[in-house]
Amino acid sequence: MAKNETLSKAKNAKKDEFYTQYEDIQEELNHYEKHFQGQTILCNCDDPFESNFCKFFLRNFNYLGLKRLICTSYGTSPIVGRQMSLFDDQDEPVVCGQGYVMDISAVPMANGRGVSDVDIEALLRSKRRGVKKLKGDGDFRSEECIAYLKQADIVVTNPPFSLFREYVAQLIEYGKKFLIIGSKNAITYKEIFPLIQQNKVWLGYGFRKDDAYFRIPPERAAGYASGVYNPDTGLVHFRNCTWYTNLDHAKRHEELILYRRYYGHEEDYPRYANYDAINVDKVTDIPCDYFEEIGVPITYLDKHNPGQFEIIGASRWLGRPMSEIAPKGSYVAGGVRFYLPEPLDKANETSDNLLTDETRRDGATVACTTELSSGGAKYKRLYDRIIIRRKM
Ligand SMILES: C[S@@+](CC[C@H](N)C(=O)[O-])C[C@H]1O[C@@H](n2cnc3c(N)ncnc32)[C@H](O)[C@@H]1O
Repeated sequence: MAKNETLSKAKNAKKDEFYTQYEDIQEELNHYEKHFQGQTILCNCDDPFESNFCKFFLRNFNYLGLKRLICTSYGTSPIVGRQMSLFDDQDEPVVCGQGYVMDISAVPMANGRGVSDVDIEALLRSKRRGVKKLKGDGDFRSEECIAYLKQADIVVTNPPFSLFREYVAQLIEYGKKFLIIGSKNAITYKEIFPLIQQNKVWLGYGFRKDDAYFRIPPERAAGYASGVYNPDTGLVHFRNCTWYTNLDHAKRHEELILYRRYYGHEEDYPRYANYDAINVDKVTDIPCDYFEEIGVPITYLDKHNPGQFEIIGASRWLGRPMSEIAPKGSYVAGGVRFYLPEPLDKANETSDNLLTDETRRDGATVACTTELSSGGAKYKRLYDRIIIRRKM
C-alpha cells in the first residue's frame, strides 16, 4: 500500500472509532418504535460483542417484536473481542482482522420477563446461535455484507464518519429504511443535501442539547483539543453529531410557531448581495408574514416541517460568485457562500448567532460566525445557509 494511502487509512481509523452510548441509542429509538414490529434490523458497522446497537436490539428484540437481527463487525475494529475472550461457531478465538456476523431470529429470556445481560452473554457465547466468521473483513461494501443488507428492512448504526457519503449512497441504492448517526457537516455535502431537499433523508431528534459523547479506545485518546476527551470517563464530546433517517417521526410534523413580522421590520432582514433572499440568523426570527425565499442557518433542519416549508437549496450552490458583483478586496473570497453588505464601521464586529453551525466533529468551535476581510470588508461572508420558502 502506498505511504499516503496508509496514512490516510490511519487518520480515518482515528476519526471512525467512536462508540455510541446505550442511553443515546435508547433515547433516539424511543421515537420510532412503531416502525420496528416484524422487521429485520441490520447493524453493519457493529461488533456484536461491543456495540451498544447490538446490545440494544438484543435487549429489546422481544419488546419491539423484531423478526431478525443481523450485526456485522469490521475486521480492523480495534475493539474486536477485547472485553470477553470469545470463540466463534467453529470454536476458534475471535480475533482482530476478521469480520464476524451475528444473525438471530429469537432471543430467549431465562426468567421469561425481559432480556438480561446474562441472556445476551449466553447468546453471544452460544456455539450454535452466536457469532460466525465472515469470509472477509466485514466491509459494509463487500458482497457478503451487501447480501445481508438486501435482507434487511431497517439499518441502524453509527457508520464510519470517513465513509458517510458512500454509506448513505448504498442505503439509498438498495432502498433501505435507516436511522444512523453522522456529522452535521454532512448536511451540506453535495451527495447528501439533495437527499434532504427531496425529503428522502431528514434529521432525527438528535442528541440532547447537541451534546454527543462517544467512547473511544484509550490508545486513540491522544491529539484531541483540550476539553474534547475526558480521561475520567473515556468519552469524547462532540457538538455537531446528529441522527439521519428516512423513518417518519412526530417532530417533523410539528408546526414551527412563528411570531416575528417582516413587514414593518424590513431592516432586521437584510438581503444577500449575491442571492435574492432575506437573511435570518436564528430560527426563532423567521417571519410569519413572508412568503418569498429566506436564508436560514443549517440548524433550521432540526425544526424542519416539510408541510410548512419547502427547501429550495443551499448557499453553496445558489450564491452568485462575488467576483461578478463587487470589486476584489471588498469581500473575503472562498467557496461559494452568501454575502451581506456590511457598513465599514461594523466591519470588525462579529455576531454569535451561529456558533452551533460551525462546530466541528472534533469539538473545536469556530469562534465567529462570519468572516471579514482584514482591513475592513464591504461584504461579510456568512456560513452555510439553507434557502426555505413557506408553503401556502
Ligand atoms: C463511528 S464507529 C461506530 C461503531 C458502532 N457502530 C457504534 O456506534 O458504537 C464506526 C465503526 O465502523 C467500522 N468501520 C470502518 N470502516 C468500515 C467499513 N468499511 N465497513 C464496515 N465497518 C467499518 C469501524 O471499525 C468502527 O467500529
